[in-house]
Formats: sequence, C-alpha cells, structure tokens
Amino acid sequence: MRILLLGASGQVGTELSRALKSVPDAEIIFATTSGLLNDQSCEVADFREPASVAALVTRLEPDVVVNAAAHTAVDRAEDEIEFSQLINAETPAAVARACADLGIPLIHYSTDYVFDGNGTSPYQVDHPTAPLGVYGSSKLAGEEGVRSSGAQHVILRTAWVYGNHGHNFMRTMLRLADKEQLNVVNDQIGGPTPAWLIADVTAELLRKGIGAGGTHHVVATGDTSWAGFADAIFDEAMDLGLIASRPVVNGIPSSEYPTPAKRPAYSVLDTTSLRETYDVSLPNWRDALRKTLEMA
Ligand SMILES: NC(=O)c1ccc[n+]([C@@H]2O[C@H](COP(=O)([O-])OP(=O)(O)OC[C@H]3O[C@@H](n4cnc5c(N)ncnc54)[C@H](OP(=O)(O)O)[C@@H]3O)[C@@H](O)[C@H]2O)c1
Repeated sequence: MRILLLGASGQVGTELSRALKSVPDAEIIFATTSGLLNDQSCEVADFREPASVAALVTRLEPDVVVNAAAHTAVDRAEDEIEFSQLINAETPAAVARACADLGIPLIHYSTDYVFDGNGTSPYQVDHPTAPLGVYGSSKLAGEEGVRSSGAQHVILRTAWVYGNHGHNFMRTMLRLADKEQLNVVNDQIGGPTPAWLIADVTAELLRKGIGAGGTHHVVATGDTSWAGFADAIFDEAMDLGLIASRPVVNGIPSSEYPTPAKRPAYSVLDTTSLRETYDVSLPNWRDALRKTLEMA
C-alpha cells in the first residue's frame, strides 16, 4: 500500500512514520513543508499552497493519504485567522478533492477544540460543534471541507496530544522538574493522549480497512486536569528515575493563567464509535503516560 504522509515531522507525523510500517506492503512517501525530514530529502507539501499540495497527491497517485499537518499554535492562531484557515481548512479540502478525483481515501485529524467545552459528559461525535476560537473554527472548517469533498475519509478527532517529540505539555513539565513549586491549571478537564496511540490506531484502521469511515474520536480513556496530568508526569518520571526531584504542583483556576485563546473547560471525548466500528482498544491515560515515559 502506497501511503502519502503529509506533516511527517510533527508529533503525530513522527509516530506515524514508525506505525505505518506495520501496514502490509507499506510504502510510505513522506512530505514536509521544507522537503526535508531528519536531514533526508522527501516530498514538499507546503500547506500555504493548496493547489501545489493537491497536485502532489495527483502526481504521486498513492493508495491513501494521511494528513498530520496542521497549524496547531492555538494562541498565535487568534492573530492569524487567514493563515489558520489556509493550513487547517483550505489545503485539507483541496487534498480531499484530489483524493476524491483519484478515488482514494484520506485520513485526517481534528480536535476537541471544535466543541465549546461547556459539556459535563464525554462528547459524542455528533454533538453540536461550537468552537471558541480561531484554531477550533479553522479545524472545524477543515472537517467540513473533507466531508463535502466526496472522498472516502476518516476524520479522527483527538485531544491533549503529547509525546517524546515536539512541543507538548509533558516535555514542558519534565523541563521544569527542578522547580520547587509549579502553578498549573486545574479547572480544564481532558484526556491526555500520546501521539503514538493516535498513530497506532491509524495503522490499525488501515490494516483492517477503513470501510465507510466517517468521524471518530481517538483519545486515551479516563480524564484529568492539567494539574492532575502534571502530578502524574512527575510521579511516573520519578518512579522511572528520569528526574531527580519534582516540584509541588499547585492547582490554579484558568482565570489566573490568561491566554490569548480561550480553552474548552471540558474536553473529554467519547470513543464509542471508534471502538464499535473498528474494534479498537484504547488504554487509560495514566497507563499510556507510563508507557510513553518508558519509551523516553
Ligand atoms: N497537539 C495537540 O494537542 C492536538 C490536539 C488535538 C488535535 N490535534 C490535531 O492532531 C494533528 C497532529 O497534530 P500534532 O500535535 O502532531 O501537531 P504538530 O506537532 O504541531 O505538527 C504539525 C505538523 O504540521 C506541519 N505544518 C505546519 N505548517 C505547515 C505548512 N505550512 N505546510 C505543511 N506542513 C505544515 C508541521 O510541519 P513543519 O514543522 O515542517 O512546518 C508539523 O509536521 C493535527 O491535525 C492537530 O490539529 C493536535
């Protein structure tokens, strides 16, 4: 299976580079903004140019496209409305139309930020969307562009992504491990999800066949706050001998940690449709964290 992987250098893209090898007869074609991946040359897919990325898909004629590229800088996005729309919506839509023309499927990723976070029980896939900011709006427009393209597709919404590569909360906490005290928000609730899990599930879907596809949620099970996640990171990292000391985590309300983009207060996603459609099993977030740190 010839798999075109867009956004190969990101958190999820890096894990996909590993996981997609488990797809039978996988031939992975990597693409990044610069045409470089780990100092090796690869295809150029610059999402600032929708037509050129669509043309890449048409020229390569892969069997499937996996799109892990996105403008994920949530706070910067508030001042970059057109750019966010271009990277997160217009180019994914153009890629999806190219996939439809070739009659090939597209796997695309989206986010808990399509919801307003006012919920109190895990969001079902068909819960009404109501993004709070530019990033969420642009990702929602990307979903709609993929859905209306006519391409066979799977949209995997995920949340609170972290891992051993790239910029993420876990790595930030480990960098701050020598502090004595740390204030961390305790009134936002979500399911921390390692990039390797999203990539492994993607590969599993390709091995099983994506069938009718549709929109599904892929997150580790259970939930916690950012402060709870920070505590767990320090506990597990101490236990594994990855850090010599750890800070005391003080839970604070979001109002004491203002950010340009408003975050959803409640970001827990219901994964029933993914589990029932594809018979996928998902680990608890705490077990997934332990496994991630063991791989560090
Ligand atoms: N991070 C999270 O907490 C989170 C939460 C929910 C959903 N998601 C979704 O999960 C997916 C993967 O996110 P991630 O965490 O892996 O993001 P990430 O680590 O920020 O990686 C984003 C990728 O997009 C690429 N990209 C950015 N601008 C580009 C451009 N102009 N042209 C081509 N590629 C460009 C980056 O490549 P370069 O570095 O080469 O520019 C990078 O490979 C995205 O759809 C995201 O919306 C993420």
